[in-house]
Amino acid sequence: MQLSIYKKIVAISGSLRTGSSNHAILRHLKQMAPPGLEFVIYDGLAQLPHFDPGLDNETPPEAVKAFRQQLSEADGVIICTPEYAFGVPGSLKNALDWTVSSGSLVDKPLSLITASTGGENAHAALLLISGALSANLLPDATLLISYIRSKMDADGNITDRETAERLEHAFSHFLQNL
Ligand SMILES: Cc1cc2nc3c(=O)[nH]c(=O)nc-3n(C[C@H](O)[C@H](O)[C@H](O)COP(=O)(O)O)c2cc1C
Repeated sequence: MQLSIYKKIVAISGSLRTGSSNHAILRHLKQMAPPGLEFVIYDGLAQLPHFDPGLDNETPPEAVKAFRQQLSEADGVIICTPEYAFGVPGSLKNALDWTVSSGSLVDKPLSLITASTGGENAHAALLLISGALSANLLPDATLLISYIRSKMDADGNITDRETAERLEHAFSHFLQNL
């Protein structure tokens, strides 16, 4: 796919784990990025302070400012996350809480990928959260991938053909809606 003008997307992994399968999915998508697309994998999740409404003012913490800046420059956002303890990983939820008042995701094309052992609960929660943030959630770019670790090898290459096809289809739909 060719993009007629330069576009930028920001991808956020909800896992901080070295060797994360969600990171691997984002790297896989990045490899498919067409010319003209800047694909940034946000790496500041662990540096964001805990959300505090008292700090959410005209001079928020630097890490928050930088995160919001990245989002404001993005034509679309991809979130790719596991589920922890039947919910959204705390670090990801924390990041999303910082976007409520800034409206950083309002009307932003959003692809949501939950890749986990099961993942149904985090996925359902993120669908609700994306509504609360008024993001432009793209249903055809939204996937739940269960048993993710059985669908990739130790190096993070996707070995399951159906999963690779679902990702390709979702990414293509996402790009068409930027
Ligand atoms: C503390 C912890 C809690 C977990 N809880 C769940 C869960 O509730 N549901 C689920 O589907 N997977 C759960 N998992 C398994 C993760 O989905 C799995 O480890 C996944 O591969 C993590 O994503 P990553 O490979 O990107 O780090 C849990 C893992 C950890 C470490």
